[in-house]
Amino acid sequence: MKKLQVNSTYILFDSIDELDKDIQHLMNIAIEARKKAYAPYSKFSVGAAIILDNNQIVTGNNQENAAFPSGMCAERVAIYSAGAEFPNNTIKSIAISASSLKQKVSQPVAPCGACRQSIAEYEFRQKSPIEIYFMGELGNVIKVNSLKDLLPFGFDSSFL
Ligand code: THU
Repeated sequence: MKKLQVNSTYILFDSIDELDKDIQHLMNIAIEARKKAYAPYSKFSVGAAIILDNNQIVTGNNQENAAFPSGMCAERVAIYSAGAEFPNNTIKSIAISASSLKQKVSQPVAPCGACRQSIAEYEFRQKSPIEIYFMGELGNVIKVNSLKDLLPFGFDSSFL
């Protein structure tokens, strides 16, 4: 028997101002997308912006539904849109921002488990890592260099 450890690395930025200019721009686009979210039930809005290898930017935001499980998270709206429109391009980075009408969200909001699984599918498909930047409405931003840092022991099609 062996006891092993899984390590994840992330980079913590004090605020959006500390990001490189191009990523700051991507995060600002995610923030604008967030403002257009349809979140009448949770009052929790999320925006995502993806940049591809051809520098095309694709956005998404959460779309809720009176039948709650029929709603969809921002990250998956964005990544499925990228997959639908640009199936032959590689995703370089995703920027995510979340806010709530109930409280100020000043902590970074990480993608949910289902979104992590969806992003994992695209990393596996394109055979290269996707950088993920996430924040709340203000405050710190976290960056991971790959989805694998958020989802160790992932499930992918190599098991099928
Ligand atoms: N939500 C996202 O858009 N992304 C996540 O990763 C977490 C949750 C949305 C889903 C729902 O509309 C609202 O936030 C509250 O869960």
